[in-house]
Amino acid sequence: MDSTLVLSNARLVLADEVIECGWLVAENGVIKDMGSGPPPARADDMGGDLVMPGLVELHTDHIEAHYMPRPKVHWDPVSAVVSYDGQLATCGITTVLDSLRVWREEGAEDVSGEAVLLAAAITTARDADMLRINHYLHLRCEVPMPQVVEEASLLIARDDVRLVSLMDHTPGQRQFRDEQKLRDYYRGKSGRLTDAELDVMFEKRREHARLHAASNTRALVEIARAHDIPLASHDDTTAEHVAQSVEDGVAIAEFPTTVEAAQALHASGVRVLMGAPNLVRGGSHSGNVATAELARAGVLDVLSSDYVPASLLMAALYLPHAAPGISLPAAVRTVTKTAAEAVGLDDRGEITPGKRADLVRVRVANGIPVVRSVWRAGARVA
Ligand SMILES: [Fe+2]
Repeated sequence: MDSTLVLSNARLVLADEVIECGWLVAENGVIKDMGSGPPPARADDMGGDLVMPGLVELHTDHIEAHYMPRPKVHWDPVSAVVSYDGQLATCGITTVLDSLRVWREEGAEDVSGEAVLLAAAITTARDADMLRINHYLHLRCEVPMPQVVEEASLLIARDDVRLVSLMDHTPGQRQFRDEQKLRDYYRGKSGRLTDAELDVMFEKRREHARLHAASNTRALVEIARAHDIPLASHDDTTAEHVAQSVEDGVAIAEFPTTVEAAQALHASGVRVLMGAPNLVRGGSHSGNVATAELARAGVLDVLSSDYVPASLLMAALYLPHAAPGISLPAAVRTVTKTAAEAVGLDDRGEITPGKRADLVRVRVANGIPVVRSVWRAGARVA
C-alpha cells in the first residue's frame, strides 16, 4: 500500500546543516525530498519543533534491566522485550543493537547473562509484529569465561547479529583498574555479595583470564570475521590494548578509559564510542575519562545510551554546549549517521533523499528534550 508522509514547519537537522522552516516528503518509507519555505500540500505542521533522523543505539544493556527488574526476579522475556522496545521508541531510538552479555560465570549465576534466552524472545516478539523499532543484536563476549566461544557460536549465525564486542572485566584492569570500584558495582547490583564472596569470585576471574582470555579472543575474532560481523573493543586503556584492537581490525572502540587510548584509536580510524550518561552526568561512574573531555579533544565519534535510554537524545543536544565547536548537526551525527555507518547500516541515519524515513520530532521544555512523535520507515510508531 502506498503511503506518503509530509511534514512542514520543522527545524530539520540534516547531516551538515539545520534547515529552518523546513519541510520533508517521504513515500513508501523512504525520504523523497526536503526543503525550506512554502510546504507541499497536506503537510503536517511540526510547530517549529526539531525533526531529526531516528536515533541509532549500538550499546544498551537496558533489555537486561527489563528482564531482571530486581536481583533474582525474572520477568516474562517476551513481555520484557516489548516494554523495553516501547521505552526506546519514546526516547527517539528507531534502530537498536540489543546488547546481550555472552557471559556465563560459574558460582556467580546472578552475574551471568541470558543471551540465548533473550535473543529467542526478540525473535518471538519480532515475528509476531509486537515491536515498534528495528532490533539487531550486539553480542557482548566476556573473553575470559570458559563457555564464551561456545555460546557465541550458537548465536553468531543469526542474520540479525550486527556487532561482536570483546570484553574483559578481570579485576584490576581496563574499566576496573580500581578494584574497589568493581566491589562497589557488584554490591550495588546484587546487594548481598560479601567481601569474602567477592574475593573468591575475583580470584576465579583472574584464573579464567590467565587460562582462556587470549585463546578465546583469537577464536571470537575468527568467528566474527567468518560471518562478516564488525568487531568492537571494550574499555581499551593502554597502548598495548590499542595496538591489539587495530590489529584485530575493530570498527568501534567502546568506552576507552583514557584520553591517550581514545586519541590513538581515533587516529587509527577506529570509531570511538562513549557513554551518553557519562556526558549528561559530567563524568564516568567508574572513575574513567569523561566523555566531554574526549569530545573537546575531537576524538568522540559515537554516543551510546548504555544504561539510560533517555540519555542518548539528551546527550546529543547537550554536546554542542559541552564541547564548543561541535555544531548541532555534528552532535546529532554521533547518535545517527556515524553510528549507523559503523555497523554497515548505510540505508539510515540521515535526512536526505533515498534514506529510510526514520524520524523523530523533538521539543525542548525546561531544558529536557521531549519526544513528541517517532516514525519508522514513514510509519508513526510513537
Ligand atoms: Fe566495561
